[in-house]
Amino acid sequence: MSIPRSLFVLALAPLAVAAPPVDDGLPNEAKKLPFKDDARIEFVAGTSPEWKTLPKFWNEATEGATDPATGQKVTKRVVKLKVPLGLSTAPAVPTENPMTVAKWELGKKLYFSKILSSNGTRSCASCHDPKLGWSDQSKTSSGINDQLGPINSPTVVNSAFNRFQFWNGRADSLENQSQGPVGNALEMFGGGKGDPWEEAVGRILKDAELVKRFEQVFGHGPSRDAAAKAIATFERTVLCGNSIVDRAEVEKRKRLSDDDTGKNELTGPDVAKAIQAAFAAKDTNALKALKLDPEKDAGKAAVVGEQIALGRAVFFGKARCSNCHIGDGYTDHGFHNLGVGVKDGKLPRSEFGRYDAQPTGHKDPALVGANKTPGLRGLLDTAPYLHDGSETTLESVIDFYDRGGNVNEFLSPKMRDTAAEAEYRKAKAEGKTPELPKGAILDRAGNPVIPFLLKLTADEKAALVLFLRALQGDPVDATVADEKWLPGAAK
Ligand code: HEC
Ligand code: HEC
Repeated sequence: MSIPRSLFVLALAPLAVAAPPVDDGLPNEAKKLPFKDDARIEFVAGTSPEWKTLPKFWNEATEGATDPATGQKVTKRVVKLKVPLGLSTAPAVPTENPMTVAKWELGKKLYFSKILSSNGTRSCASCHDPKLGWSDQSKTSSGINDQLGPINSPTVVNSAFNRFQFWNGRADSLENQSQGPVGNALEMFGGGKGDPWEEAVGRILKDAELVKRFEQVFGHGPSRDAAAKAIATFERTVLCGNSIVDRAEVEKRKRLSDDDTGKNELTGPDVAKAIQAAFAAKDTNALKALKLDPEKDAGKAAVVGEQIALGRAVFFGKARCSNCHIGDGYTDHGFHNLGVGVKDGKLPRSEFGRYDAQPTGHKDPALVGANKTPGLRGLLDTAPYLHDGSETTLESVIDFYDRGGNVNEFLSPKMRDTAAEAEYRKAKAEGKTPELPKGAILDRAGNPVIPFLLKLTADEKAALVLFLRALQGDPVDATVADEKWLPGAAK
């Protein structure tokens, strides 16, 4: 065999010449896109006066800037993303990972590419598919080699706003989260002795076009750190809002500014106005979410508006949903034990949830069996529900809450009838033998766990379901959801 050419060249090279550049994962500015071509992405949220002037989600504009290397004034492209109505703030972006168009494009390519899975069969989109509500619509996910995982794939939609990622919150950023699947034997890694990320980077290195993109964005070749940053940048733009409820809130504010004696709560007519506007605009998506026929059902706007307003009142009142589902995304970003995964009143060891994800020395017994409160936008695309996919419909989720969740000794205090529990303890302290209500249990210390029964009527349940349906919102913008769309193609 002949000597490989590279060795031959090295052997003949004069000693004084600089060593060939080693890619140590640190940036070399010369490899990056020139400053003037490196467009920023900026979120514009509803609180900014500029928000109203933006006609669509993805808006291209130009801005003046000074090249820090040359001091020259240049005109650059800038992309302004209009944060959908109802999400009142822009997602937080880590300072070390600023958003640029080139990074977003790379992240989009990686998100949809099977290159990250060890046998080329799975991409992020396999389990978080834009056509399936950015989840996989399965009870639990099947990963590489079709192995069935134990847990339901959450949607990527609005995950940019999550304080924690994963059901047990074991990642605290999208950058941190996106590194997980590549090494997960149930997701993208087929096993073997090697380091999954080293192997993934090795596969990327064989794709010259991808390598060039890494260099243009980061000034160095592919690495785990860079891939995580690019994917997170793309995910931050997977946003959904502008639901009928958001639009009704706008109607309410208009009403209150016209008539300051009005009711501060969302009313049926506020919602009806939003629905009528949806009929006028032929917004099939919003109407279908409410099971309204865009051709025939315009006359039902008033009745449906009243029902949604009732559902909202139940959500924030009698049903106590807003104890945990609160804010723009309808989540407190906290963890609670609802008893999901409980079998016969017992929490299996595998279902310790948040408690297991907390580092040793930081375990909080109050979080045994607790899982993350998910947001409630876009629910119509993400059935089945709960972390084990155990409830198939919104109606059955509400029945689950109506009976106080699944009783177990660690049930969240927010799911318990604390007044009845106090009475029981008092009676016991007085030497009486109080009766435990049906469905209640005693914990290991002999204290009662009495689930709080919501006692919702059939009408209240139906209204609550309709309210959840009215949170659906617009589909994620096509610039993000369409795998093929790239900013260059728009021009
Ligand atoms: C085989 C299916 C599968 C693949 C492939 C996969 N995921 Fe996931 N993803 C899941 C499951 C299941 C969970 C929940 C796991 C848990 O909570 O323990 C999850 C959780 C997440 C979350 C957290 C969302 C939340 O609300 O907590 C994000 C974000 C995410 N995945 C993004 C990605 C990205 C990016 C990739 C590609 C690098 C990817 N996923 C690949 C199945 C998958
Ligand atoms: C004590 C806090 C708490 C209360 C109160 C609460 N939720 Fe939840 N909700 C959660 C948590 C935590 C989960 C995830 C539980 C799991 O999967 O283990 C969840 C899950 C859900 C889901 C499934 C979402 C998905 O993507 O799988 C829906 C729908 C939902 N809740 C609606 C409601 C409604 C409606 C109410 C009021 C009747 C309500 N919640 C009350 C904390 C709460």
